[in-house]
Amino acid sequence: MITVRLAYRSDATFIADMLVEAINWNLEAPVQERATVLNHHENRHYVDSWPQPGDVGVIAESPQTGPVGAAWLRFFRAEDPGYGFIAEGIPEVSIGVIASRRGEGIGDRLLRELEHEARQRGLSVLALSVEPNNPALRLYERRGYRQVGGSGGSYTFRLDL
Ligand SMILES: CC(C)(COP(=O)(O)OP(=O)(O)OC[C@H]1O[C@@H](n2cnc3c(N)ncnc32)[C@H](O)[C@@H]1OP(=O)(O)O)[C@@H](O)C(=O)NCCC(=O)NCCS
Repeated sequence: MITVRLAYRSDATFIADMLVEAINWNLEAPVQERATVLNHHENRHYVDSWPQPGDVGVIAESPQTGPVGAAWLRFFRAEDPGYGFIAEGIPEVSIGVIASRRGEGIGDRLLRELEHEARQRGLSVLALSVEPNNPALRLYERRGYRQVGGSGGSYTFRLDL
């Protein structure tokens, strides 16, 4: 059975692992090693110093094997935007599930719980960036995210909570 809980400071390493999964979503592209992913500021600023003020995350875990997935929110400044930046005050969603547990509904559940936590905190809009050929796009559309723009070949999606 998979349970979902809030992410703590002690989840920083696992959240960074899930960022590496998200960057390496395309299984046909060369794998970027963890150190390479985290060496790039544009990637690292999704997880740097977790948790920063305003960060919210959820972790899916199995009692047998531990964490299997994470989804989290981070706010960016206009002068240092994330890939899916819409505006200051609209956080970006990141998500990853370990490869061996994909396609079981864990990603959907993580997004659902993250959206719930966002609503509880009074947030009304979430943003994210997804590449057009990433199958995750269908998951986002099913959850109500809509394309509102794009940058560098990626789509920017928005969810009104
Ligand atoms: C995207 C991701 C978090 C979804 O989690 P999940 O637990 O596999 O998702 P669910 O089981 O709830 O939903 C399945 C949907 O996820 C998407 N998906 C993406 N990669 C998948 C994979 N390898 N296997 C199965 N589904 C996948 C599809 O949209 C699928 O829906 P479909 O059946 O209509 O194609 C997960 O597949 C993952 O970590 N992928 C690599 C990292 C990534 O792409 N992160 C997002 C970057 S924008």
